[in-house]
This record gives sequence, structure tokens and C-alpha cells, in this order.
Amino acid sequence: MAEKNSSHFHTFLLWILLFSFAKLSKSLPLSTSSRWILDDKTGSRVKLTCVNWVGHLEPLIVEGLQKKPLPYIVDNVALMGFNCVRLTWATFMFTRENYGNLTVRESLNQLSLDGSVAGIAMNNPQLLDATVVEVQKAVVYELGRKNIMVILDNHVSKPQWCCGGDDGNGFFGDEFFDPKEWLQGLTAVANLYKDAPNVVAMSMRNELRGPRQNTNDWYEYIPQGAAVIHGENPSLLIIVSGLGYETDLSFVKEKPLVLNFTNKLVYEAHWYAFDTPWQIWLSQTNQICAQRSQRFADHSAFVVSSSNPVPLFLSEFGADQRGGNEADNRYLSCLLAFVAEHDLDWALWTLQGSYILRQGVVELEEVYGMFDVNWDHIRNSTLSRRLQLVKQIIWDPKSNNTTHSKLYHPQSGLCAQIGNNGSVRGSDCQSPGRWKQQEAGSSIQLEAEGTFGCLRAVGDGQPATVSSDCGNQTTLWKMVSSSQLHIAAQGGYLCLEMNSSDSVVVTRKCLCLDENSNDVPNCAENPEGQWFKLVPTNES
Ligand SMILES: *[C@@H]1O[C@H](CO)[C@@H](O)[C@H](O)[C@H]1NC(C)=O
Ligand SMILES: *[C@@H]1O[C@H](CO)[C@@H](O)[C@H](O)[C@H]1NC(C)=O
Ligand SMILES: *[C@@H]1O[C@H](CO)[C@@H](O)[C@H](O)[C@H]1NC(C)=O
Ligand SMILES: *[C@@H]1O[C@H](CO)[C@@H](O)[C@H](O)[C@H]1NC(C)=O
Ligand SMILES: *[C@@H]1O[C@H](CO)[C@@H](O)[C@H](O)[C@H]1NC(C)=O
Ligand SMILES: *[C@@H]1O[C@H](CO)[C@@H](O)[C@H](O)[C@H]1NC(C)=O
Ligand SMILES: *[C@@H]1O[C@H](CO)[C@@H](O)[C@H](O)[C@H]1NC(C)=O
Ligand SMILES: *[C@@H]1O[C@H](CO)[C@@H](O)[C@H](O)[C@H]1NC(C)=O
Repeated sequence: MAEKNSSHFHTFLLWILLFSFAKLSKSLPLSTSSRWILDDKTGSRVKLTCVNWVGHLEPLIVEGLQKKPLPYIVDNVALMGFNCVRLTWATFMFTRENYGNLTVRESLNQLSLDGSVAGIAMNNPQLLDATVVEVQKAVVYELGRKNIMVILDNHVSKPQWCCGGDDGNGFFGDEFFDPKEWLQGLTAVANLYKDAPNVVAMSMRNELRGPRQNTNDWYEYIPQGAAVIHGENPSLLIIVSGLGYETDLSFVKEKPLVLNFTNKLVYEAHWYAFDTPWQIWLSQTNQICAQRSQRFADHSAFVVSSSNPVPLFLSEFGADQRGGNEADNRYLSCLLAFVAEHDLDWALWTLQGSYILRQGVVELEEVYGMFDVNWDHIRNSTLSRRLQLVKQIIWDPKSNNTTHSKLYHPQSGLCAQIGNNGSVRGSDCQSPGRWKQQEAGSSIQLEAEGTFGCLRAVGDGQPATVSSDCGNQTTLWKMVSSSQLHIAAQGGYLCLEMNSSDSVVVTRKCLCLDENSNDVPNCAENPEGQWFKLVPTNES
């Protein structure tokens, strides 16, 4: 009886928590126009710069509540500079009573996770006797109170770590993936959040895959999923993935997806380093960056530039944040150059520093996580800096300001700007110089306050400068290497490079390129410090 009373009390607290979201001020909902996501009311661009946050594993509880109070976690999402969360969920939680109606305590006890019960009792006591669905609501509403948008991502049917080719969750008709039950789950979730304006989108299914995958079933079921979500809550964006673990939408080139409502469709795709042997990222860095970028463009990013453009949400990418995986480091620079150039919407994998239970391991550490294992600190603040440019609206469809470029260095996350003595330095990307290059091989001109000049190579190991003499050979630049990420002067011999200790931009012998600027087939050096991208922008 005592327990019952206390559980009533907790339910009372929970209701206060759930239904006090009056402060929400963002003007939502969202819609799409061409390749852009817009605020419905003002027509201004809204860029999704999200972090994934997992809630689809066996305990059915959003990760971290066993470690820290919910408001602390949500405050940190905002402090990290994300404007949105891609929150993952499992279908069974909304379709089967023996899942969705479990309380947190029951769910954890069932898995013998006494330590997690204690953790939640300490950090979020009001949630311990709430049901797992109520906990998801509490998370969504707390995010809303902090003005953070939410995308509810149907990640799996049966709660478990994702994704294996034959784990029963991969494609319509797999052991746990009954299309009817999936539609029922989508309906329930769309309905549950009708009154939560910060829920801006649902992503219909994560990483379709496996031996059963085929486009016929895709064209049959995806419109049904879209219809039930839209029917319940017409303000939501509908986010749709392709096949092959969310790496292939190319089939819609031939046969566009037709929905009977407009301005809500967004495609999503994933891009990780681990589809390529590490050794290749290390020995053929430029070549593999070129290849992977091209593949991502052909299989996914083409949707933003096709004749009937649709926004693309890069809903998962990420790297081992400890920095020791050199292949991951280079991949991330390659990817960031692409994302900046195309100004994609995105969600980083991932927020959680640990999992209550993942793949049978209690409190497994997540080295891709923004939080450290105890959720005390940000794991690696370098990453936040590297993301700062792609967090900005680089291209505003409403702006008629002239086009120029930011000179972006993805390894550091900095943009090149003129220093006070004519040198060129990396600085934050908010107020970078306006760089312009008319055509390959011509000068790269800088307009900055009170300055006009051309980027100039002085010599091997010397700082690059900006000089008023724009016709000189040393001021003519071209993009070289298969990656097109090296910027070379003087016949391709000297490349821009950022000194990682003082952020001065120097010119040095181009790495991993021969004297004709062709890729060296196997290169022991790391060219990443020489990677720059002229990123087109129309901000003032
Ligand atoms: C949980 O129980 C309520 C009341 O018995 C029921 O209406 C609801 O459908 C159940 N939820 C699930 C997911 O089965
Ligand atoms: C839209 O399509 C769905 C199925 O794809 C259908 O159930 C619904 O009735 C259609 N709505 C309209 C207005 O045609
Ligand atoms: C953060 O990541 C960078 C590489 O991006 C690495 O050099 C550094 O050691 C990492 N720092 C920590 C504290 O893990
Ligand atoms: C931008 O376009 C609007 C109308 O489309 C016009 O009123 C405004 O003067 C333009 N601004 C500039 C800087 O050209
Ligand atoms: C210009 O200033 C930076 C520091 O602001 C310094 O590192 C660099 O050596 C200076 N360059 C020259 C050519 O004096
Ligand atoms: C380019 O500038 C350098 C350094 O000022 C000078 O030595 C060289 O003669 C110039 N070349 C031409 C073609 O003007
Ligand atoms: C980078 O800058 C530091 C500090 O100015 C200097 O000591 C170092 O030699 C520079 N490294 C390279 C490779 O130029
Ligand atoms: C366009 O330029 C104006 C005036 O400089 C500025 O206020 C505005 O923010 C710019 N628009 C964008 C999208 O940067």
C-alpha cells in the first residue's frame, strides 16, 4: 500500500512535469519548399542541427536518466549547440501492452538491472514508477521547454541494438517487422504528440536492410506510413529513408515517391567511415574521400539538386571522439567539407555517453557520444568547434545578398580570415572573410573590412599572405587531388595548410600528390591538415 501511495504521488508530479510546457516559443510547424526546410509561418529557413538520443533498447528508457537529472541532460543538449534531437523508439513500446505499460521499475527489474533502478531513483525519482511511454513524453516535453525540436525516429520494432542484416527488424515482413503493427505504432506516436509543438517530424524507419529488402515493397508501404502519420498529425514533416542501411535512395531517380500531400517530405541518409577498411582511409586518404563523397552524392545527396528537389537530412554520422581512430578523423573532415558545401540538415551520432544495457553489456560506454561515460562532461570539445560552421545557415533561400565563399578548414573547424599583419589565420566561422574565386586557376580574392587583396603563396613553410598584386603567379590557385580539397599555387607544388598550434595558414609542399598534382597511390603522410573547402554562402 505504501508503495501504491507513493506511486500516486509520483504520478501527480509527473503530470505537472508533462503538462507545463507553456514557455515554448519557437514558431513551428515546419514545411518544405524545394530542398529547404522552412518555418511554416515566416517562410524562413530552419536548419536541423540535431543529435541522436537513444530510447529504443531493451530497457525502453531514454538513455542517461540513470546517470543525471533530465533537466541537466536537456540543458546540455542546448549548451552543446544542437537545436534538435532525433529520439529513437521501438514499435513494440506502442503496440504491445507487455512493453508500453511497464513502469521504469518493472522494465529494469525484468532485466535484473538493480543498479539502474538505483540510478533512476537517485537522479529522476519522479520517473521510477511512470510507464516507459510516460518517460518518453517527459523527455519530449522537457526538450520542448528548452526550445529543442524533436524528431521521433522509429528505429526498430523489437527493442534491441540496431542494426544487423538478419536481426528480424530490417525490412517489411521480417520476423518482428509486421507492416500492420508498424503502421499502428506510427499512428500511436503521431497521435501522442499532437499537442507537442516541438515535435516537428517523424522518421518512418531507420536503416531498412537485409535479404528481404526490395523497392516494390518500399513503394507499397512508405506511402502508407506517410499517410497514417499525416492523417494523425498533418503538421509533421515525414522523413523517409532508402535501402541498404539508409545509404541508397538512388531508385527514386527513376520513380519518384508520390504522396497525396505536399511540402512535408524529407529524405534521410547515413554516412559512416566503417564501410571502408581503415587501412584505405590511411593510405589512400584523398582517393577514398573522393570516392565516398561521390557515392554519397549519387546515392543520397542528389535529392537536393534533382529537378524535383527534396531536403536531405543526414540523420547519422559520427566518429570515435577519443580521437585515436585516425581513419575516423579523416573521414569526419571529408564528410564535414561535403556537408558544409551542400549545407545539409543533419543529426550527429550521438548524445549518450553510455547505455543502461546494450548488446548484453550493462553501462556500456559509447565512444561516439557527446557525453563522457558518466555524463559529467563533454567528451571532446574539439568536436563542437568542428561542427560550428555546419550549425550555421550557410545558404539562406530568402537572401538576395551576393554569393561569396568561406574558406573552411574541416580538421580544425575554423575558417580562414585575414590577421592584423596581412597573414591569414583560422578563426571562428561567424565572421569570416569574403573569399571569391571566379574560375579554377584564377586568383582567390578577399574582401574584408578595409581590405581587398589576393591570397598569395610566399614560399614553402611561409605564412600565406593577402597582397594587392593579384596578377602574379603566386596568387593563382587551383583545387588539386582527387578529393579537390587541396588548394595549390605555383603549378600545384605548394598547398595551403593550417598550423594546428597557432592556426596560421602557411603554404607547404602538397602532401600525397606528385609533381603533376596527381594522387600518390599509397601515401604514408596525412593530408588532412591541407584540406580546405571554398564553401559558397549568401550571408552578408
Ligand atoms: C496500456 O494500458 C492502457 C489501459 O489498460 C491501454 O489503453 C493501452 O493500450 C496500453 N498500452 C499498450 C501499448 O498496450
Ligand atoms: C492518401 O493516400 C492514402 C494511402 O496512400 C489514403 O489512405 C488516403 O485516403 C489518401 N488521401 C486522399 C485525400 O486522397
Ligand atoms: C579530441 O579529438 C581530437 C581529434 O579530433 C583528438 O586529437 C583529441 O585527442 C581528442 N581529445 C580528447 C580529450 O579525447
Ligand atoms: C532583395 O529583394 C527584395 C525583394 O525581393 C528587395 O526588396 C530588396 O531590395 C533586395 N535587397 C537587395 C540587397 O538587393
Ligand atoms: C602575424 O601575426 C601572427 C599572430 O597574430 C603571427 O603568428 C605571425 O607570425 C605574424 N606574421 C608575420 C608575417 O608577421
Ligand atoms: C611575383 O611576385 C614575386 C614576389 O614579389 C616577384 O619576385 C616576382 O617577380 C613576381 N612575378 C611576376 C611575374 O610578376
Ligand atoms: C606551428 O606554429 C608553432 C608556433 O608558432 C611553431 O613553433 C611550429 O614550428 C609551426 N609548425 C609548422 C609545421 O610550421
Ligand atoms: C543580407 O545582407 C543584409 C545586409 O547586409 C544582412 O542584414 C542580412 O543578414 C543578410 N542576409 C543573410 C541571409 O545573411
